[in-house]
Amino acid sequence: MARITASVYTSHVPAIGAALDLGKAGEPYWAPLFKGYEFSKQWMKENQPDVIFLVYNDHAVAFSMDIIPTFAIGCATEFKPADEGWGARPVPVVLGHAPLAAHIAQHVIQQDFDLTVVNKMDVDHGLTVPLSLMCGQPQAWPCPVIPFAVNVVQYPIPSGRRCYELGRALRRAVAAFDEDLNVHIWGTGGMSHQLHGPRAGLINQTFDREFLDQLIADPAALARKPHIDYVREAGAEGMEMIMWLIARGAMADGEPGGKAPRVAHRFYHVPASNTAVGHLILEDQE
Ligand code: DHB
Ligand code: FE
Repeated sequence: MARITASVYTSHVPAIGAALDLGKAGEPYWAPLFKGYEFSKQWMKENQPDVIFLVYNDHAVAFSMDIIPTFAIGCATEFKPADEGWGARPVPVVLGHAPLAAHIAQHVIQQDFDLTVVNKMDVDHGLTVPLSLMCGQPQAWPCPVIPFAVNVVQYPIPSGRRCYELGRALRRAVAAFDEDLNVHIWGTGGMSHQLHGPRAGLINQTFDREFLDQLIADPAALARKPHIDYVREAGAEGMEMIMWLIARGAMADGEPGGKAPRVAHRFYHVPASNTAVGHLILEDQE
């Protein structure tokens, strides 16, 4: 039986990818940020999953504004790094896990979540930057990855509650897969940031830290936070944080009687490009 055993949360700022790709990670601006991921890279080596289920958002790259799925699951065998305007990042192609992805699509749709099945898709910084932060610069990513894209770009955007409930459904779906697989689920995006208009550059450290506290301690209550609170307090793009609720809902305590996860690592850093960077690793306890 497959099992979700841990969840990872991280911001996915494009400039972080550029810093790595251009060899600037050791510069004074970037070094403190990458230091916060040293533990995580070691943790990945010691706790290598068989599959990563990676929740992220596409930034109008793969889907453009022509078609905007609310929840899209990547069922292909591979996903190429997208060209976001400066050429594709020089990182490995992402290999998928088609049998598990197809199983999850079937199971979650039968639990009344309408997913869009995607059989061909390039993946943007939302997916590749978290992989770089957690895995460094390998020749190949350490395991297959199932991309799961959430619309947080164009209204209407799914509610935090729906994201949390979707995470719970994902846990059940993974548990119903016959093969013995250790699955990690990642929630990416955030933290507070606004990229346009008079408030461009907005960062709200108080909001971010409280979000992290509540994500750990009481995600069901956090899931009730309305969109307008994110937009007002954390900026228009701070909305990306609702994706973290999907990963959090997939932890053991989303089930009745389930134990709360252990905080293996917590990191927060300001600034990186136009945003605050938040990062958590939660492990389910046996
Ligand atoms: C930036 C872009 C993002 O997609 C994001 O999540 C955070 C920051 C940026 O351009 O700085
Ligand atoms: Fe983003």
